[in-house]
Amino acid sequence: MKPLPRITVSYAQSLDGRIATSTGDSRWISCPQTLTLAHRLRRDHEVILAGIGTVLRDDPELSCRLRRPAPSPVRVIMDSRLRLPADSKIVRTCGTYRTIVYTLAAGPGAQRAELERAGVEVCAARADEQGRVSVEGVVNDLAGRGFRSIFVEGGAAIITSFLRAGLVHRMVVVTAPIIIGQGVEAVGELGIRSLTDALKPRHSRMRRLGTDRVWELVF
Ligand SMILES: NC(=O)c1ccc[n+]([C@@H]2O[C@H](COP(=O)([O-])OP(=O)(O)OC[C@H]3O[C@@H](n4cnc5c(N)ncnc54)[C@H](OP(=O)(O)O)[C@@H]3O)[C@@H](O)[C@H]2O)c1
Repeated sequence: MKPLPRITVSYAQSLDGRIATSTGDSRWISCPQTLTLAHRLRRDHEVILAGIGTVLRDDPELSCRLRRPAPSPVRVIMDSRLRLPADSKIVRTCGTYRTIVYTLAAGPGAQRAELERAGVEVCAARADEQGRVSVEGVVNDLAGRGFRSIFVEGGAAIITSFLRAGLVHRMVVVTAPIIIGQGVEAVGELGIRSLTDALKPRHSRMRRLGTDRVWELVF
C-alpha cells in the first residue's frame, strides 16, 4: 500500500478568525507578501485541493503564479453534486493544469460529459456519513495515484472536514490585523467540548510577514 500524502492546510484569517465576510468576500484578507507565500506553498505541493463552495464563490484558478515560473500542482475539487460550472476558470484552464473532481454524481449525464469533454477528470467518490464526498476516500485515492503531498486551501467546510478527520500534518495560518465580525469562520464544528481535547501541535512558530503574522503548526 502506498503511503498517505502529507497534508498541509492553509488559509488567511482576520484577527477574529474569519476567512471571509458574511457575503463571502475574502479578497484579499492578507497582505501582498503573504499572497506570495501562498503561491510558494502551492509550488511545494503535488496537489492543491479546494471545495466546490470556494469555486462557486470566488471562481479561482488555483494555479501557482510566481515571478519565476514553477510547475502548478494538480487541482482537486470536492464536489458531491457535480456543480462545477463549465465556464469556471478551473474548467477553462484544465487544458493547462490537470484537474480532478471527486463527486458522488459520477454517473453518466450531460454535466459529466461536458466537463470531461473540456478535459476534467471526473472521479466517483465514497460518501461520508453526511452524504458528502469522503475526505478519507479522496486522500486514499490520491495516495493510490502516487501523490505525496496535498495543499488544502479551503474553504471553511473543507478545512473543518480535514481537521475532523485527523489527517492534517501541518497548518499555515496567516492572520491579518483586521476585524470582520460576523462572517465565515475559518474552522467549524470539531466536536471539541473540553480544552484538554483542543488540537495541539507538536511544534509551532510564528513570524511576521508584511503586516501579517504567519503561524506554522506541525501536528
Ligand atoms: N481566506 C482564505 O484563505 C479563504 C480560502 C478559501 C476560501 N475562502 C472563502 O471560504 C468561503 C467558502 O467556504 P465554504 O465553506 O462555503 O466552501 P468550501 O469549503 O470551499 O466548499 C464546501 C462545499 O464542498 C463540498 N464538499 C464535498 N465534500 C465535502 C466534505 N467532506 N466536507 C466539506 N465539504 C464538502 C460541499 O458541497 P457539496 O455538498 O455540493 O459537495 C460543501 O458545501 C468563500 O467565501 C471563500 O472566499 C477563504
